[in-house]
Amino acid sequence: MANPLYQKHIISISDFSRSELELIIDTAVKLKTQPHPDLLKGQVVASCFFEASTRTRLSFETAIQRLGGSVIGFSDSASTSLAKKGETLADSVKVISSYGDAFVMRHPQEGAARLASEFSSVPVINAGDGSNQHPTQTLLDLFTIYETQGTLQGLTIAFVGDLKYGRTVHSLTQALSLFGCKFYFIAPKALSMPDYLCDELTEKGINFEICDSMEEVMDELDIIYMTRVQKERFDETEYVHVASKYVLTPEVLEGAKDSLKILHPLPRIDEIAIEVDDTPYAYYFEQAENGVYARQALLALVLNENI
Ligand code: CP
Repeated sequence: MANPLYQKHIISISDFSRSELELIIDTAVKLKTQPHPDLLKGQVVASCFFEASTRTRLSFETAIQRLGGSVIGFSDSASTSLAKKGETLADSVKVISSYGDAFVMRHPQEGAARLASEFSSVPVINAGDGSNQHPTQTLLDLFTIYETQGTLQGLTIAFVGDLKYGRTVHSLTQALSLFGCKFYFIAPKALSMPDYLCDELTEKGINFEICDSMEEVMDELDIIYMTRVQKERFDETEYVHVASKYVLTPEVLEGAKDSLKILHPLPRIDEIAIEVDDTPYAYYFEQAENGVYARQALLALVLNENI
């Protein structure tokens, strides 16, 4: 039977069922231990980044090449006909998708990946659209949580920092809501979790609380998911009011479970003190490496009917 992700657009984490997420995690576990250099042999993937990226672009491109595929695309849209000659996104997508077997796209506008999927002749994979969704980050976050905790079921997770603009938080809470987890949301008031997402969690009967500090819940936590305040989405005066309110230091971690792990989609600014890197709780660099395996798993499933 064909795998359910074959030739599917990957736009929002809410498009996945629990069993599809589990399939991707199982495939990532296998690919991490048993490399498969031929799974994308002969396939070309377009990697088009209209917005800055380090981890997402490079881990996608590593994933493609380690599976035997090849990459076309750009890391800076400034030299494209869209930016320089007024070509529409729709026309650009029609043309680029005719050159490849899949189309990975990051774009600063919410909804851009969904729009691209309407004009692409091959599967579109959303590598982040504005402050909306970042589904492949969520796949690597789920894989990393599973790797560190041995399960996704019934965990207690604190999300800290910019929960308003943090697209990784939006996607991850939606995914973890399929696994009966409990959430604590810890953010400056101006950056709290959007109402529509809280309403969605309430409708699903998910247990969540809004808290003022990490210390008050530290001893309950399996995962702390830190995020940076997204400076690029503020003007300077607004930014200084919300930056650096929540900083994770070794002192804040007192009373944590031995099995606690700290995740962060990166880049970090100052919200995790450098000294935390040397504690057994830090797992954010391993998390970034897991981006290769999670994206390998996704590409292998989207581009192979049977694997
Ligand atoms: N985590 C993440 O999306 O990082 P980049 O912006 O560097 O891709």
